[in-house]
Amino acid sequence: MSEPHVLLLGAPGAGKGTQSKRLAEAFDIEHVTTGDALRANKDMDISHMDTEYDTPRAYMEAGELVPDAVVNEIVKTALQEADGYVLDGYPRNLDQAEYLSDITSLDAVVFLDVSEAELVDRLTGRRVCDDCGANYHVEFSPPATEGVCDECGGDLIQRDDDSEDTVRERLRVYEENTAPVVEHYRDEGVLVEVDGEGTPDEVFASIREEVDAAT
Ligand code: AP5
Repeated sequence: MSEPHVLLLGAPGAGKGTQSKRLAEAFDIEHVTTGDALRANKDMDISHMDTEYDTPRAYMEAGELVPDAVVNEIVKTALQEADGYVLDGYPRNLDQAEYLSDITSLDAVVFLDVSEAELVDRLTGRRVCDDCGANYHVEFSPPATEGVCDECGGDLIQRDDDSEDTVRERLRVYEENTAPVVEHYRDEGVLVEVDGEGTPDEVFASIREEVDAAT
């Protein structure tokens, strides 16, 4: 049997990154994340693509979507190289969803449901390791020593787009562009919804059950 193709959907802060990492490990599949890929290439020159800004950084720091042409190419390359995968952060609008359906087929589409107040708390309290990318929360999952990564000893920083104003803008962009993607998969009858407000272990158990059932 081929490896599972899983799509994890949810608003900014819903726990897609946290849960995708666990799923990738549990099923031994690739974690394909457009957010991490763009952060690793945020100063890439995209001006030849006739874009409003010259780099992904400018879009990300404003909380706006990076143009589809840039992101579609990243996803296409990553999926070509993966057997099984969990896709995190893509598709973000209906055009990306259409592109995705042209290049792959999905076994499971899981939506993490989290209230807006919880999303804002999670994102503004998030800290990430500048060296290894490990994820913490100042209140819900703090490191043993403040500001220091438990895994590699690196410095913990706040992401540029996790300030409260940018978080509000990201949530607005999500409602306008990505909420219709969730409805699209719901209309197709392939969406399963998981309560994203339990502990990370509880949420993971629910997602795993859904992926097992679908594959
Ligand atoms: P991206 O990196 O994809 O960010 P996002 O979707 O906004 O999601 P986040 O990474 O912020 O949240 P998450 O759901 O992964 O939550 P996490 O697990 O970290 O995108 C960033 C930017 O890149 C976009 O704004 C855009 O500019 C650009 N971009 C990316 N993809 C694009 C695309 N396809 N098209 C165009 N542009 C694109 O959890 C959050 C916090 O909560 C953490 O602190 C964590 O510890 C905590 N937490 C997690 N789970 C729980 C739990 N169960 N209980 C308590 N706390 C929890």
